Amino acid sequence: MVLKINRARKIEGEIEVPGDKSISHRSLILGALAEGESQIKGLLEGEDCLCTLKIMQQLGVEIKKEKAGRYLVKGRGLNGLQEAADVLDCGNSGTSMRLLTGLLAAQDFYSVLTGDKSLRKRPMARIINPLSSMGAQIYSRKKGLAPLTILGTQLTSIEYELPVASAQLKSSILLGALYSPKETVIIEPAISRDHTEKMLQGAGIDLQIEADRVILPASCQRHLNPFQIQIPGDISSAAFFIAAALLAEKGELLIKNVGINQTRSGFLEVAAAMGGQIEILNQTKAAGEATADLLIKPSQLKGIEIAGDLIPRLIDEIPIIAVLAVFAEGKTIIKDAAELRVKETDRISAVAAEFKKLGIKITENPDGMEIQGVDHLTGGVKVESYHDHRIAMSLAILALRTCDGLTIAGSEIIKTSFPDFKKLLEKVMK
Ligand code: S3P
Repeated sequence: MVLKINRARKIEGEIEVPGDKSISHRSLILGALAEGESQIKGLLEGEDCLCTLKIMQQLGVEIKKEKAGRYLVKGRGLNGLQEAADVLDCGNSGTSMRLLTGLLAAQDFYSVLTGDKSLRKRPMARIINPLSSMGAQIYSRKKGLAPLTILGTQLTSIEYELPVASAQLKSSILLGALYSPKETVIIEPAISRDHTEKMLQGAGIDLQIEADRVILPASCQRHLNPFQIQIPGDISSAAFFIAAALLAEKGELLIKNVGINQTRSGFLEVAAAMGGQIEILNQTKAAGEATADLLIKPSQLKGIEIAGDLIPRLIDEIPIIAVLAVFAEGKTIIKDAAELRVKETDRISAVAAEFKKLGIKITENPDGMEIQGVDHLTGGVKVESYHDHRIAMSLAILALRTCDGLTIAGSEIIKTSFPDFKKLLEKVMK
């Protein structure tokens, strides 16, 4: 599907973005493991989360949709899942595959997990290795690629230093570790998103968080309490609209109820350091997660350097930060972000290739990129999504500042995380 986006000088209005993707996946999984009925409001109904939902149903969990975004999950307890009659399809969703592998490795049944052509190219050895040290029996294609075959078994615990700051990896180990009576310790090289920890604690699991480590103390009888959750708007989706409003000539955009969890809000810090005017209003907490309304005004941006421990706190926002960099004065340097190469596509080479088509000066490095700001972009060309929702949406926002707009091929992938993206963008383009 091709998406044509034209120039917009004014971005204005009041919007809400869909529910947080990471929290949506976890609500479905932890709701299924709880003892009793959980109520979820604001679930993201993008394809990725719908894959997790369907898989939990295949594992015997009753999940009822009450209305848009509102679901009841009849938890079956930690030991109540049932063997699925068929292969479990994670689609494009790395979160589904990685979290569920940890969970399924500890069940007393057999599972097969697969995904689309992008997911079947993404590294799974990073979860297979620590889970195997816990006793898991997981078989993959060569080089740790999916489909994965899992012969569920009793897992033991682990003390594990993560080789990369990855919440998917951390969560995969934690879900498996719930089934070991011994203590598990996970040490992170830098802090990654902590939704799993917050939600497990919220459901009554004794979990200790120290500076760089997560500790699940020994216990012979863990159980999860059911919960009610109102999922906040996804800051990773809000980032596209924040960028659009910062890059506009005129207007003002209010985005209501956005999750601003510290482990996810690096984008707001970077946008402010670049000179972006973003007011954080009405801060509050819902189900342990900080939320706020964000008021964004057009801003003259300047290039900065982004590196180190900040990277995991904005990893999904780097393609849209690259778009901000195009219109910032001077150079923006992004380092320590080699993880971008193993996302839904290699996001460093995808951004570099598409920006070069537009005449933008960008240097690709093994762990990041350097972008020289421009005054003016002609556009009028066809660009590619690389089957990656965040590349497609970043290019759509870039198009708003080109004279002749952009045509984005492969834009159907946007529905994995933001089905109403185009509709919402058209609503604020004035
Ligand atoms: C996610 C973790 C991140 C992120 C992904 C969602 C999660 O991946 O890029 O979009 O929900 O745990 P990594 O854990 O691989 O960094």
